Amino acid sequence: MQEQHAWSGRFSEPVSELVKKYTASVNFDLRLAEFDIEGSLAHATMLHKAGVLSDADLAAIRRGMADILSEIRAGEFDWRVDLEDVHMNIERRLTDKIGDAGKRLHTGRSRNDQVATDIRLWLRAQIDAIVPLIGELKTSLLDLADEHADTVMPGFTHLQVAQPVTFGHHMLAYVEMLSRDAERMGDCRRRVNRLPLGAAALAGTTFPIDRHYTAELLGFDDVCHNSLDAVSDRDFAIEFTAAASLVMVHLSRLSEELILWMSPRVGFIDIADRFCTGSSIMPQKKNPDVPELVRGKSGRVVGHLMALITLMKAQPLAYNKDNQEDKEPLFDTVDTLIDTLRIYADMMRGITVKPEAMRAAVLQGFATATDLADYLVKKGLPFRDSHEVVALAVRHAEGQGVDLADLSLSVLQGFSALIAEDVYVVLTPEGSLAQRDHVGGTAPAQVRAAIARHRQLLG
Ligand code: ARG
Repeated sequence: MQEQHAWSGRFSEPVSELVKKYTASVNFDLRLAEFDIEGSLAHATMLHKAGVLSDADLAAIRRGMADILSEIRAGEFDWRVDLEDVHMNIERRLTDKIGDAGKRLHTGRSRNDQVATDIRLWLRAQIDAIVPLIGELKTSLLDLADEHADTVMPGFTHLQVAQPVTFGHHMLAYVEMLSRDAERMGDCRRRVNRLPLGAAALAGTTFPIDRHYTAELLGFDDVCHNSLDAVSDRDFAIEFTAAASLVMVHLSRLSEELILWMSPRVGFIDIADRFCTGSSIMPQKKNPDVPELVRGKSGRVVGHLMALITLMKAQPLAYNKDNQEDKEPLFDTVDTLIDTLRIYADMMRGITVKPEAMRAAVLQGFATATDLADYLVKKGLPFRDSHEVVALAVRHAEGQGVDLADLSLSVLQGFSALIAEDVYVVLTPEGSLAQRDHVGGTAPAQVRAAIARHRQLLG
């Protein structure tokens, strides 16, 4: 016999099997089940306080939902595609258990405000899990930065050796990015944390509801103030996915660097074996699979952002079934982000830095040329002129196959009479670093101060 839908009274023929499958969401939205129950219990409690549900009805709903929750947790709940989604599955089960009280639960409510509430409750919990994971990764990076606050490496622009920096300073750049990422998650949470329930299908309800009470029961900071907006906009999910995309993009950049640094041609670092794989044909290979996959998965999350923002575009008010498509991209964004953060925090603890290789690279690239230019400026030469003097000196050194620091004083003085013996201090990588001693600079003392500041903020 054809199963009756909650809405089938209006229809003269049943939907086809294909349409049923096509329109159903239970296969994925069952993930919202616990939040759906939480929302329903708050709604029922509010209806009871408003005099819409009796004591007996509320007690039955609470009892029935407690049973259903344990069935779900035990994996014993029979999810039925013919009941379309998580909401109707749970409601039907409740009614089977407690009869008419179960049918009264949906008073003054629609699946439209129900699902919007469920997603917000779910996403809030995910954000609350993600922020500490970002913190853990920051701690791994800070530990590495601490260990290498003095380790010289070439800083690059255009991937050409530019100026010496410390490896610690380089790691701190990612700590800054991740700090903003965590901040963005917190900002987004504020807008996620508002209650749609009470909007009902789109226009509100004729029952004497108390939305602020429901909001309080569910830990929402406020209610959504327009019923049409409450059931239809998914901007909070788009915003979250944008914030998640930025985390992934930041980690993709770091991945790209780790991959490059681990290449034998560069050899700046090694990644612990547990994050790498071998080749089935080339016995010598050790491949940085984890960072490569993170770089790849960043595309997947940015794709979800595109999916969600396109989903919203051109939807008229209020709710449209299009919105059912919000869940899979959002769920996958959260899963990908959480796994990536976890694995990354561990991977960064398994990085071995090779300071000799980094130092050798600094010495090959005339990384202290700017230091020589600054030195001449401090002796009175205008910067543009000193830039020219140093360019000529670099050209000469390059021709000789040596570093600036290898040129004798008399050769250097041939380029500018302002150059004296004290020049050699600024021509070493350590001298170069030490002079960048201001907030945000790469001097080891500044790197240590920045680490301390971040550790204190992390608490
Ligand atoms: N499964 C639906 C969704 O995810 C629930 C809301 C459906 N509402 C409706 N009137 N068809 O959006």
